[in-house]
Amino acid sequence: MDIFRIEGPVQLSGSVTVNGSKNAALPIMAACILAAGKSTILSVPNLSDISVCCELLTGVGCKVQKNEDGSLSIDAATIDNPVGDYEIVRRMRASICVLGPLLARCRRAEVSMPGGCAIGDRPVDIHLRGLRELGAEIHLENGYIIAEAADGLTGSSIFLGGPFGSTVLGTANVLMAATLAKGKTIIESAACEPEIADLANFLNSMGAKISGIGSPRLTIEGVKELRPSEHKVIPDRIEAGTFMVAAAITSGRLQINNCRLDDMMAVVYKLRNIGVTVDESDGGCLVTRNGPIHASHITTQPYPGFPTDLQAQFMALLSLADGNSIIIEKIFPDRFMHVAELNRMAASLRKEGAAVIVSGTKKLMGAPVMASDLRASAALVLAGMAAEGTTVVNRVYHIDRGYEKIEERLNPLGAKIYRETD
Ligand code: EPZ
Repeated sequence: MDIFRIEGPVQLSGSVTVNGSKNAALPIMAACILAAGKSTILSVPNLSDISVCCELLTGVGCKVQKNEDGSLSIDAATIDNPVGDYEIVRRMRASICVLGPLLARCRRAEVSMPGGCAIGDRPVDIHLRGLRELGAEIHLENGYIIAEAADGLTGSSIFLGGPFGSTVLGTANVLMAATLAKGKTIIESAACEPEIADLANFLNSMGAKISGIGSPRLTIEGVKELRPSEHKVIPDRIEAGTFMVAAAITSGRLQINNCRLDDMMAVVYKLRNIGVTVDESDGGCLVTRNGPIHASHITTQPYPGFPTDLQAQFMALLSLADGNSIIIEKIFPDRFMHVAELNRMAASLRKEGAAVIVSGTKKLMGAPVMASDLRASAALVLAGMAAEGTTVVNRVYHIDRGYEKIEERLNPLGAKIYRETD
């Protein structure tokens, strides 16, 4: 198993380019199932989660090919096995997003029920409720969700909100299924995340009729069939935010290219609010920090609120602030596995229910730590670059799920991150 040995502290400077968004690419790849032919997806990041998704699509009958320019061709001419296997779903929960497209295309789908993960229980009840409202019959058998719609799906008015607000992949599933349903569907309390807007734009390029894109109310006029299409995935706002924190935590200066600040207003606001300079530049931004980091309060929320996927990284940053901060997690109340690890690096964090009180300290210190999930491991790498001494991050396969060769991209900027095999 690979580990990262990180020497710190370092000060980052230079320029870095953000890759295509993992969380936009995954449902877009699943959406290719809806059209009988070859779609091409550009700007797909080279990540282990994307490879798992390719395996999943191949398993249902797609021919997936990686092209020289890095794009992916997904030929869904024949879908002869509408099954999401346990062996794949257990490796990547996002596999659930083939449920809607398989059901719409094949009128039957069997997808292994995802379990919990390091960030919480993560139920899929709202996905199933939405698909049932489109007329699907759904039951659970041997750990598999069996969804059937022998006569096809029928449009409906669906309230898709849940206890924590909207659901990103739940919206993706119901939206994809509704494109081929008979008649009109309204999804109220739809997720507004840019990744869902990107999916909807791709679906429209395939011939779907979706309006209200980017709003909490999506209207879908069902069509008989979709055609294959070509699409470029939006930049990854979470990777961009992670690089922004990397500049800030190392008192550095980074030009971040291929980043849409318009998708990141809550993050940019928070960075400026705590003393980090973010200047918009053509297609990206320049992030610098010269002075102290000021303490602040952060509450994670569905988009356009502050993203849960940057909570851990900001916790690492605020642990060096000039006072006490509070971070409240409103999406995944248990997403705090990084707290104990950051404390091993001399941060001063106290968890109180779904909140963490961060008492700012003057410096972090290197230590051996354990990565638990994708974003938590990013936070440990960020902390390791700012800490004095050596940090060893174990289980870096978590970070490889969402950040492409992070060490090869940060080291030219001044980081000292070495990948070693344990
Ligand atoms: C997506 O997960 C992302 N994953 C997550 O990214 C991200 O943290 C999350 O959205 C929130 O922004 C992908 O896009 C592949 P949700 P998703 O359904 O769709 C509850 C990363 O690090 N809920 O929006 O699975 C749920 O428990 C990750 O890249 C139900 O109660 O998240 C949570 O509290 C990890 N029932 C809230 O809704 C349901 O049926 C939002 O979850 C579905 C969700």
